Amino acid sequence: MVRIEPVHEATPELHAALSHLLPQLNSTLPVPDMERLRRLISDPAVTLLLARDGDAIVGTTTVIVYTTPYWIKARLDEVVVDAGARGKGVGEALVKAALDIGRERGAQVAELQSGRGEARKAAHRLYERLGFRIRESDVLRILL
Ligand SMILES: CC(C)(COP(=O)(O)OP(=O)(O)OC[C@H]1O[C@@H](n2cnc3c(N)ncnc32)[C@H](O)[C@@H]1OP(=O)(O)O)[C@@H](O)C(=O)NCCC(=O)NCCS
Repeated sequence: MVRIEPVHEATPELHAALSHLLPQLNSTLPVPDMERLRRLISDPAVTLLLARDGDAIVGTTTVIVYTTPYWIKARLDEVVVDAGARGKGVGEALVKAALDIGRERGAQVAELQSGRGEARKAAHRLYERLGFRIRESDVLRILL
């Protein structure tokens, strides 16, 4: 039985788990170091969630709740489940828990960004199954 829990402390166990999981989402980005993890966890807008199967950490996502002039929004980022634990509803449990946190914190809408390639097919099915719909809008980015 998988449990979804928020992280309250940056520990070596957390760092090791994310070092294993995050490259399965994006192998080109550096794994966050302990300082980044402490900053992430202490950010009051952010909830970092873990999926645990017994003692093993098998998935993670992050939900950020923030306010704009029109909306209180929940943004989901970095949804990833360990390759060996996929297809058993862990991703669904993580996304549902993130949406619950958004609702509890007053969010009116939840958004996430996902690539269009073959690698994200399972993710898209999961999101659409949970009620997300593609919104035709471009994402623009500049590195700072
Ligand atoms: C997307 C992802 C988080 C889903 O996690 P999950 O725990 O497998 O999610 P679920 O079990 O709730 O559902 C996954 C879907 O993949 C199917 N699936 C079954 N076996 C699978 C397997 N071995 N591997 C991948 N997907 C599988 C599930 O049946 C389900 O399909 P359905 O929606 O048509 O029923 C996971 O595949 C993953 O981490 N992918 C790589 C990172 C990624 O793409 N993240 C999303 C970024 S936007």
